Amino acid sequence: MGLPGPTPRWFFGNFIELFTHSRHSAACLADWTKEYGKIYGYFIGHTPIICVSDPDLLQEIFISKFSHFHSRRPLPLQQHDLRHLLASTDDEWRRQRSIIQPTFSPHKLKEVRTIIDQCITELIEKLDQQKPNVEFDISYLLKRTSMNIILNGAFGINPNTHEKLSETFFQRCLQVFELNIFQTTLTICSMLLPELNFLWIACFKYTNIFRLWLCDHIPFMNRFINTDPHTWLLYHVESIIKQRCLHGIQRIDLLQSMIDVTDVFHNTSSPSKLSKYHLNLDELLNNIYLFMIGGFETTATALSYLAFILATHQNEQARLQDEIDHVYDDYEQLIKLDYLDWFIRETLRLYPIAPFIVNRQCNKKCRIGQFKIEEGTNFAVDMFSIHYDENLYGPVSPLKFYPERFQEKRHPLAWLPFGVGPRNCVGMRFAMLEIKLALVRILRRYTILSGERTLSQFAEHERFVIAPKNGIWIRLQRRSSQIR
Ligand code: HEM
Repeated sequence: MGLPGPTPRWFFGNFIELFTHSRHSAACLADWTKEYGKIYGYFIGHTPIICVSDPDLLQEIFISKFSHFHSRRPLPLQQHDLRHLLASTDDEWRRQRSIIQPTFSPHKLKEVRTIIDQCITELIEKLDQQKPNVEFDISYLLKRTSMNIILNGAFGINPNTHEKLSETFFQRCLQVFELNIFQTTLTICSMLLPELNFLWIACFKYTNIFRLWLCDHIPFMNRFINTDPHTWLLYHVESIIKQRCLHGIQRIDLLQSMIDVTDVFHNTSSPSKLSKYHLNLDELLNNIYLFMIGGFETTATALSYLAFILATHQNEQARLQDEIDHVYDDYEQLIKLDYLDWFIRETLRLYPIAPFIVNRQCNKKCRIGQFKIEEGTNFAVDMFSIHYDENLYGPVSPLKFYPERFQEKRHPLAWLPFGVGPRNCVGMRFAMLEIKLALVRILRRYTILSGERTLSQFAEHERFVIAPKNGIWIRLQRRSSQIR
């Protein structure tokens, strides 16, 4: 296509530079943008990818020509269960999305707010147990809270009454993001030789089935073999759904909202035979599983970055506390607070969590700008270059934490932590509600302070999401004028 870009190596393309970058692969894309401009090409193995950081071009791909770009690039080792998240036919994706979207409507979220609030009360109780002014890593507690919220708000599993089950869910969800050597090897093979995906996927799948079989038949093997977390989670999510449907249990949570739109009698029918307004059981299972793995680590990581920013920006924290203190228990008003909203946006601008999932694949030949785009062409977004662009975020330097910059209207494609367009993050409202409620409750009771390790331990690493590597070390100081 005549695009500039880093010189690819034989067989590997630019894979080695991308995945051995000193910070993370998203930073590598930003380095290349500096060298080659806002549109360039790179290769993973022999798969060409066009990387874009021009917001007008992105607007065309993600919004105005969305019907030509509704798919995402398949994940390495992508199996059937993740089809909905990544790439599916236009009709299938559209049908499912239109059924799922109302699950996250303001009305439904209002119903699950009490559950979220309960889990945050438990977090506050744990924070109360920390020694005042002694440094500790808050990221673990935030992960637990985020998991409890998903388990309780999505599945109705109360971590207090089902302590053991929720602990196992938590450990299994953590494992989803930890690739072992076998999985890493197959993932690399799948990226470099996607034509042989049937082989890598079969190898992965049958090894997991064999491991499960071994653990099932020879319980002793459980000591040595860890079964695949995806398989375990899918199996347990299915049994929770079946129990609900069989016993006609009604609850107020996301799962209930989705069961209400599921045709439980069409478990095996193909989606095309289903009504426009119903999911089948398999689709319900895959979606609820996606909520769990898509919503847990991301929201916990966002809260961790917020804790880091609060600890290192005392003036901005004081302004936020001031804003929060003036609104009492009116949650409608709390979630509409301007500075709170800007504060979260600014944190996610500086630390976007899942830049790599925001990509698109062309599914119908078209023209974008001066380029003729063939079906199957892959587009990546260089989110860091956009988020740190002076023209999009000036005049105050984009390197500075400055929430007020969101007072001004910015380019609609300038802020991308939740993606953009019709296929953006379906759980964004849920995540924002959770983050806002948690921040409000914490900041009413405490001031977050930095300690010796706050800056020295801060480092990012990439494991599907970009998260703090060594946790977030902070101190808490109880406020004297706390409201509750
Ligand atoms: C701070 C928290 C979160 C972040 C940063 C985040 C980020 C993202 C991003 C970047 C995408 C891809 C969007 C695109 O391609 O344009 C996405 C998709 C998705 N997210 Fe989230 N997410 C978060 C929380 C959640 C939560 C809480 C849930 C569910 C309860 C969720 C469920 C999903 C699902 C199902 C998709 C796929 C949507 C589709 O393909 O139609 N996410 N998320």
